[in-house]
Amino acid sequence: MTRLLLGRLAARHALGHHHVRITPVPRRLFTNASNYDALVLGSYTDAEQITFSASRDITSSTRQTLVEQLAASGFKKEGDVRVLYNVGGVKQVAVVSLGKQGKDEATQLEQARKASALGIQALQKQGVENVGVDVSVNAQGAAEGAVLAQFCLDKLKNEADRRKPIQVNPFAAESNSERDWETGYIYGTSQNLARMLMTTPGNLMTPKLFTEEVAYLLAGLENTEVIVRDEEWAIRNKMNSFLAVAKGSKEPLRFLEIHYRGAGEDQKPHGLVGKGVTFDSGGISLKPSNNMALMKGDMGGAATVAASLYAIAKLQLPVNVIACMPLCENMPSGGATKPGDVVRAMNGKSIEVMDTDAEGRLILADALYYLSSKYSPESLIDLATLTGAMDVALGNAFAGVFTNSDLLWQRLESAGKMTSDPFWRMPLHDAYLKEMKESTVADLNNLGKGRSGGACSAAAFLKEFVAGVESEQPLAWAHIDIAGVMDSDATQGYHIKGMSGRPTRSLVEYMRRVSA
Ligand code: BES
Ligand code: MN
Ligand code: ZN
Repeated sequence: MTRLLLGRLAARHALGHHHVRITPVPRRLFTNASNYDALVLGSYTDAEQITFSASRDITSSTRQTLVEQLAASGFKKEGDVRVLYNVGGVKQVAVVSLGKQGKDEATQLEQARKASALGIQALQKQGVENVGVDVSVNAQGAAEGAVLAQFCLDKLKNEADRRKPIQVNPFAAESNSERDWETGYIYGTSQNLARMLMTTPGNLMTPKLFTEEVAYLLAGLENTEVIVRDEEWAIRNKMNSFLAVAKGSKEPLRFLEIHYRGAGEDQKPHGLVGKGVTFDSGGISLKPSNNMALMKGDMGGAATVAASLYAIAKLQLPVNVIACMPLCENMPSGGATKPGDVVRAMNGKSIEVMDTDAEGRLILADALYYLSSKYSPESLIDLATLTGAMDVALGNAFAGVFTNSDLLWQRLESAGKMTSDPFWRMPLHDAYLKEMKESTVADLNNLGKGRSGGACSAAAFLKEFVAGVESEQPLAWAHIDIAGVMDSDATQGYHIKGMSGRPTRSLVEYMRRVSA
């Protein structure tokens, strides 16, 4: 077996460019390695011992130098990072402490994600361009961390203040990690796409611009079709609940539909629906102005759905998916829906709009009914930054899942564990429906009683619009409230301050599992 040795690299550099090759080394490894400006290396710091996960790729003399340097600098606890210079022929080596060796795959994935992110961020300040990343703990996790750690949206800044992205490559002797690296690269990129869509300010990510951006991102991907619908189409489909939200804004609505055909025509599609409010001012029930800017991220459901389709198509997963994203702004104006107005949704139910700020459920009502009645999917998942109450309940750690299916819950739960972007099950129960049915003039009202259980009553409301949930063999449906995980205040690592793009990777992982 051929191994890439740090020590050997030093020898090559010493020989210069017109050297005579003495030992034949496979070109691929040799060439790749000599291009790196820097390396990210993971190191176990357990029981006062410093060992390297990629120890087989490092000669013993290099290892000794590293250990001496690290020990002298007090390198010890998980997350510690040291940048060392001119070691084993590499100009800069960022060593990251992994803590102790992880037992299961999910732990190793997360260990690799965290360490590679910290290593890349340490090197970012040093102006390196081309970095090899240790893939010996977990290649997929290493790639995810390296890609996610680099996210920033600086195209609106002065050119001098923009950051140059670092090119990241798998550093390993063996090539069997390349596929996993590739997968991780796609997982990370898809979450970054969701972050980009959510972070882009509302004036530059209107419903129309959102569809154009997504069409561009998915262009050329096999088996993928993007269909963009306008207001006229929504009127013809009697989507009055969706229209009631959109009509307060000057920006025209869009209804984005993506079809991905990775499996045979006989296979029922898996449905995805994403809330796409590109800005939520609250409408006539206007929100207070502090933090209102965050509401540019109120299309997080649509962003994570569209971004997951990018990954699903890139990976060519053998599964069929249909995704629907109602896109509009929620604005106050002379043409806006007023509190007390009654609209008839696509499924025929009338809704009294008690609060125009509870707009997410109004646009989802029609999108859920449209997808579930028109395509009779195998399963249906919707994602929405739906309620502040979800944030109060679970905060940032978990997204809340409301579902009528234990199987769907189990699949989501295990997908979320693998990605470390996890879910917590919440109650989907008729006990929360009563308060949504107290309107004196309509079948339903869009506002529950008080603030108690706000995320749960919203879920109960949505269920009224999913075709097939009440039938003999009910459609497996899950509503995921992502309001709590919408943004992050992280200062380092692969979580980045600002819009999170969560749980894009978990959606991709879920689809990978149902397609396996
Ligand atoms: N988009 C908001 C929910 C939200 C709040 C998302 C904070 C992310 C962070 C949603 O449209 C909304 O305004 N919900 C109301 C519902 C209420 C009027 C029943 C809320 O949570 O206050
Ligand atoms: Mn709102
Ligand atoms: Zn909203």
